[in-house]
Amino acid sequence: MGKIILTGDRPTGPLHIGHYIGSLRNRVKLQNNGDYDKMYVMIADSQALTDNFDNPKKIQDNLFEVAIDYLSVGIDPSKVCIFIQSGVDELTTLTYYYMNLVTVSRLQRNPTIKTEIKQRGFETSVPSGFLNYPVSQAADITAFHANVIPVGNDQMPLLEQTNEIVDTFNRIYGDTLTRCEGYLNEDEISQRLPGLDGNAKMSKSLGNCIYLKDDSETVKKKVMSMYTDPDHLKVEDPGKVEGNMVFLYLDVFATDEQIKKYSEFNSLSEMKSKYQQGGLGDVAIKNVLYNVIEEILTPIREKRKYYEENIDLVKDILKKGTEEAKKDASKTLNEVKKAIGIDYFE
Ligand code: TRP
Repeated sequence: MGKIILTGDRPTGPLHIGHYIGSLRNRVKLQNNGDYDKMYVMIADSQALTDNFDNPKKIQDNLFEVAIDYLSVGIDPSKVCIFIQSGVDELTTLTYYYMNLVTVSRLQRNPTIKTEIKQRGFETSVPSGFLNYPVSQAADITAFHANVIPVGNDQMPLLEQTNEIVDTFNRIYGDTLTRCEGYLNEDEISQRLPGLDGNAKMSKSLGNCIYLKDDSETVKKKVMSMYTDPDHLKVEDPGKVEGNMVFLYLDVFATDEQIKKYSEFNSLSEMKSKYQQGGLGDVAIKNVLYNVIEEILTPIREKRKYYEENIDLVKDILKKGTEEAKKDASKTLNEVKKAIGIDYFE
């Protein structure tokens, strides 16, 4: 069995630098190193509807945002099949057969689902579609026999659920589906970048993000508002590096080359020592970070402009990708029906 890579995102908002550092950058690397048989990136609009069913416009509006974000960071449609989940009905059919293999209590025990139910205030009335989305995610993955899934840590319980479904299916109906493995970023901080305000997570609902589509001025304003050390009042005061978001971001985003280029220091550790001693102001460190982030965002913005002006091209990429994904998934659906024994006319 070769290597088949699949990832996806819910189109509930434009993508931000947390997504970039946590997964998009990784996907481009994977795409370019060529060590795979096929790579898919899915826009999970159906899954997004499971907790936004009353606001479909939000999903529609963000679908193209996310597609343009993908293309702007360099995901290459000639190497990667980019597709829309709702365009592949086979995934829904697979979900229906897999639902038989999972108990309600097992779904309720899923740690990711548990947290999300609390966050959404669904405790007293969970929509059954929402409770079931791990089953549909198992369909997303197995429909393509994907075995390498680059995701964040929070998705691991979903992959575990997928493998349970795979094992149960194969045991009852015979060897048909492929097990998968998560592919995690090497460093923890990149997996989940904290927000500009120091909140544990960069997230749209918390309003603490830098978006890939933000213009320079917006980025500057946001960086200048970042949480540093609340006790560092005067430039001469010694400052804290731990818990200081600017240094945390510099750790994640900056190379020593860039530190040299944008400051009077030779390395980030030198810059940190100066800050701790006193005599280095917040505006100065924020300026360095601003420049580093701009180096990442400038080429992304240029590509974004191109795709925004050529939206028909984006539509065409999504349409072709979805058709291709549909073909692949329908092969698996046929295998599944055959295994269960409901392929009556074959
Ligand atoms: N649950 C994922 C998220 O919230 C999105 C997703 C849907 C996904 N289907 C997938 C990720 C299949 C990986 C594989 O980000």
